[in-house]
Amino acid sequence: MSEELPASELPPGPSGFPIVGATPQSILDGLEFRERMAAEYGDVVHWEGIDGHNYQLNHPEHIEHVLVHNNANYVKGDRFQRVLGPLLGNGILNSEGEEWRRNRHLVQPAFHPDRIEVYAEMMTGLTEDMLEDWRDGDRRAIHDDMMELTLRIVARALFGVDIDRYVDDIETALDSFLPATSSLPNILLPEGVPLPSRRRMDRARETLEEVVDEIIRQKRADPGENDVVSMLLAARDDEGVPLSDEQIRDEAITLILAGHETTAVALTYTTYLLAQHPEVESKFVADLDSVLDGRRPTMGDLPDLTYTEQIVTESMRLFPPVPGIVREASGPDEIGGYPIPAGARVFMNQWVVHRDSRWYDDPLAFEPERWTPELEQSLPRLAYFPFSAGPRRCIGDRFAMLEARLLLATIYQDYHLELASDRNLEVVPTVTSRPSEEVSMVVHERAGDDSPGRDG
Ligand code: HEM
Repeated sequence: MSEELPASELPPGPSGFPIVGATPQSILDGLEFRERMAAEYGDVVHWEGIDGHNYQLNHPEHIEHVLVHNNANYVKGDRFQRVLGPLLGNGILNSEGEEWRRNRHLVQPAFHPDRIEVYAEMMTGLTEDMLEDWRDGDRRAIHDDMMELTLRIVARALFGVDIDRYVDDIETALDSFLPATSSLPNILLPEGVPLPSRRRMDRARETLEEVVDEIIRQKRADPGENDVVSMLLAARDDEGVPLSDEQIRDEAITLILAGHETTAVALTYTTYLLAQHPEVESKFVADLDSVLDGRRPTMGDLPDLTYTEQIVTESMRLFPPVPGIVREASGPDEIGGYPIPAGARVFMNQWVVHRDSRWYDDPLAFEPERWTPELEQSLPRLAYFPFSAGPRRCIGDRFAMLEARLLLATIYQDYHLELASDRNLEVVPTVTSRPSEEVSMVVHERAGDDSPGRDG
């Protein structure tokens, strides 16, 4: 039972149904529900759900309070564990307290700026390998291509292995797992109740365990110097005790999944937006030509590829790869003048805040040029938070930004991508903002100056 609060202390919000409250609507209506809450009720919204009090925060300062200033009072909580625990176990995305701190510290060196530099060449190399399979006029399933490419990159960068033969197994496991994360029965019914969605989740975990166990076996036999699995295998606590196999497995599965689906989603929406905005694509390609003059992009080119960065930033504003974040209050708090009881769930949505006209003029327009230093300085800090903020901020943010810019620059130097259908993309908000259906694109080789998207 949730703590009773006097009506005068509750922020406005929908009333919902007896017993289940507004939980079914909040899950079934997905992002539309979140947008409606913000439009109808303002900055702090409340609804009673099957599992107690729920709050949606729509103001960047309130979000900053939860994620940054008072983060010690918030944990990921039961809802998060129930959704992601079956796949990720207790890896750093899910874990809390001392275990999270220790493992984040152990994994961190793999994301040091010096190491990330080393990954740049491999990222463009694997993109070139992908482009070798593309032919002028091909119709490509772009999201599949991006998923495969980012998966190969994360495995090579973080584990020092090629996982080519497992790519299909991993993607099939993810395809069956992600829809289960937003399945209503899975969220509403107690753990232990057998459900088809839960069986799919278990099967997905088994597949990933097989892949990761094989990587661990390889690394035990032939340890590398810098890869994450070798670092985790070599780690000892103060008493000299190593991590258990289960812990290493959970961290590896977490990194594989957190590290590729998100970036693939960002890249897919960027290609979609570029195809819909030929004027942006032309300017992008002209910028690539002038900076690179036909060379492959390197880490050193990135400071000059400012338009590429603006494109990625703007694409993740409109289509944030992670559309929302949830936390659970461990103790009481106060936000926007309203008391927040212990145990309440707090929802913060990049999808909503990034499209708020208080912070962005013409918020639904795709305008990379809006990202001037002046805008960045004038925005409230958490009006843009694709990677979250505070201690639980994405560990792979630099990696992802490097990867997205290098991959786009490499692809668009050689190809113009045309949408094969003029249907608008629908987003399926699970843990990420996957497109609801495959994004089909016809790829055209840029033979010369008169090819589409190249102004001369
Ligand atoms: C565009 C790409 C990416 C986006 C938008 C993104 C977004 C996020 C967000 C929003 C969180 C916080 C989730 C929460 O607090 O509930 C997060 C956490 C995390 N991300 Fe990313 N991510 C991206 C790429 C990556 C990459 C490339 C990696 C690794 C190679 C990665 C690994 C992680 C991990 C391990 C965490 C958990 C960190 C912790 O709790 O300490 N992410 N990411």
